[in-house]
Amino acid sequence: MREESVFPDAEALSRAAAAMIEEAAAIATTARGRFAIALSGGSTPRALYEILAADYATRLPWAVTHVFFGDERCVPPGHPGSNYAMAHESLLARIPGLESRTRRIEGERPPADAASRYAEMLHREFPHTAGTSATTFDVLLLGVGSDGHTASLFPGSAALSERSRWALATEAPPEAEVRDRVTLTFPALDAARTTLILCAGAGKQPIVAQIRAAGARAGDRYPVARVTARGTVHWLLDNAAAGL
Ligand code: 6PG
Repeated sequence: MREESVFPDAEALSRAAAAMIEEAAAIATTARGRFAIALSGGSTPRALYEILAADYATRLPWAVTHVFFGDERCVPPGHPGSNYAMAHESLLARIPGLESRTRRIEGERPPADAASRYAEMLHREFPHTAGTSATTFDVLLLGVGSDGHTASLFPGSAALSERSRWALATEAPPEAEVRDRVTLTFPALDAARTTLILCAGAGKQPIVAQIRAAGARAGDRYPVARVTARGTVHWLLDNAAAGL
């Protein structure tokens, strides 16, 4: 199922995402005694992470929350371009004990090695019978690049057609700050129960319009439009990105 919500600004979008995460966490801990969330990188989710650290410090089941990542730039964890570094500064370091339940992608390793190690870890964390549909994260956070990429699945990448491996090394376009990446693939992303796609700012208005104009064929050109989930893919936009 796909849903879309539009909010006045990025702050309202982030607060709505936090409330949706709180709801999903309550359902997950009641059902399975733990809550698994995969974080997105980039700049958009920072405000959400700061809200979770500040206003949800006692409202989420942090003691049974396990944190993963949808992708990473192949840099050391302290590098300013690291998705882990951004999450660590805005959230992980601010919730006691959360660091110990966080599984970062090892950006300091050779990309293919980091990808295979991460995929092996994910299969241990989310075991399923071969040939059945796996379920991974209770909540998966994703962003939208101006070219329609999500995680580090870029238009035209061979990784878009991966059907079995859960993580791969990919390469961002030449203009990217860090080109070498590790990303989850659609088999891992689509196994999430609930996926929140955060899209804010006037800079995203063109890609949102292009995806809308492409309709049912959007997934052919824009990886973010191909994302599915076991439950709901919920797009959260602000007025600026929605062109309102
Ligand atoms: C990354 C992210 C990437 C991001 C989009 C949007 O590693 O950069 O995983 O997919 O979500 O590029 O980034 P902004 O939020 O900075 O616009």
